[in-house]
Amino acid sequence: MAETTYRNNCESRYTEKIESIEGGYCYEANRSHYWGPQELSLFFGTNLYRQSTPEQKLALNHLYWVTQYNQTAATEANAVLYNNVTEGVFSAVGGFGALCSELSLETEQEHQHIHAFHAIGYATRKALFGSERIVRPRLSSLSATSRRNTKNSSAPPSLLSLKIPALNWTKLQDEACRLMILKLSSGGGSCSYSDFLRSQQRSGKPIPVQRAGLLGQVVPASLSRIMTISFGASPFSACFFYAIRYLANILLKNYEHSYFQFHRSLERAGDFIPAPTAISYYHMLDESFHTTTSQLISQDLYKEFPRPTAYEHLMANLIFYRGQQMMLGGLSAVLPGIFRSDSTFILPSTRS
Ligand SMILES: [Fe+2]
Ligand SMILES: [Fe+2]
Repeated sequence: MAETTYRNNCESRYTEKIESIEGGYCYEANRSHYWGPQELSLFFGTNLYRQSTPEQKLALNHLYWVTQYNQTAATEANAVLYNNVTEGVFSAVGGFGALCSELSLETEQEHQHIHAFHAIGYATRKALFGSERIVRPRLSSLSATSRRNTKNSSAPPSLLSLKIPALNWTKLQDEACRLMILKLSSGGGSCSYSDFLRSQQRSGKPIPVQRAGLLGQVVPASLSRIMTISFGASPFSACFFYAIRYLANILLKNYEHSYFQFHRSLERAGDFIPAPTAISYYHMLDESFHTTTSQLISQDLYKEFPRPTAYEHLMANLIFYRGQQMMLGGLSAVLPGIFRSDSTFILPSTRS
């Protein structure tokens, strides 16, 4: 099954299509067209939307695409990290060559998808709001892990005066967490520990964590390192990551399928196809391989490995429960088609 998915994915050219569409993108050439069904517009169904001018309605339709794919890019950045972490487990266990090749290919594809979503989002917001109102996305911006290592200038002088620079507390904490989680996990302990995390640690790098996207938000910041190590500590937890990745795949399809159908109807009518609509179309096709992989690992592959321990049960249930709470815990009037509360969009009142 993994071999077939890998072969079909290698033969497909959807990522290259996305790359070429992104290269030729210009907002002006797309601004007078809807990029998806009208229902996929910010504030659709509200009085604010009804009172908008035709030009504003187009902009709200475009900003819906930008907002959704900004969130998708953040969740795909989660996939980039955890694909590497879990692929490292399968390669440490051995015998999963085709699956590891597929995961590497999916990771490369996510890099290109993220680039396209950010580039189109930035160009669109710049055209609509002006460059001084927005911040250019930086893929190489200071990561959460490197921020964690930045000197804390507000530390009390008494601590700074202690001359013990040889102690690397982050490294010590990482090692302590790793040893503890390996003890609590199934599957032969360090024999199946992620090759990726092992090489990170060998080169002196801290355990990577995520702060945005679905998996960056399911656990509090203090637990993100534990989550990363857990995914890399045993075959069961590595397989479990694909259950939450499958949830993210399905949530994406919930609105991306509408863009896919919209593209088809434009194609059938011989009408102009806006670049972002075409990107959604090819992204949906590219992601179909990823969904198949998520399903294969989370529903079948885990059965090949030792049963989970109490710790792994707890982590899996906690992460999945939080994922459902976050992503399926409300209805939005700002962003139709998502199941999140609007509270994050509401600014605090400024009562005098
Ligand atoms: Fe993607
Ligand atoms: Fe994906």
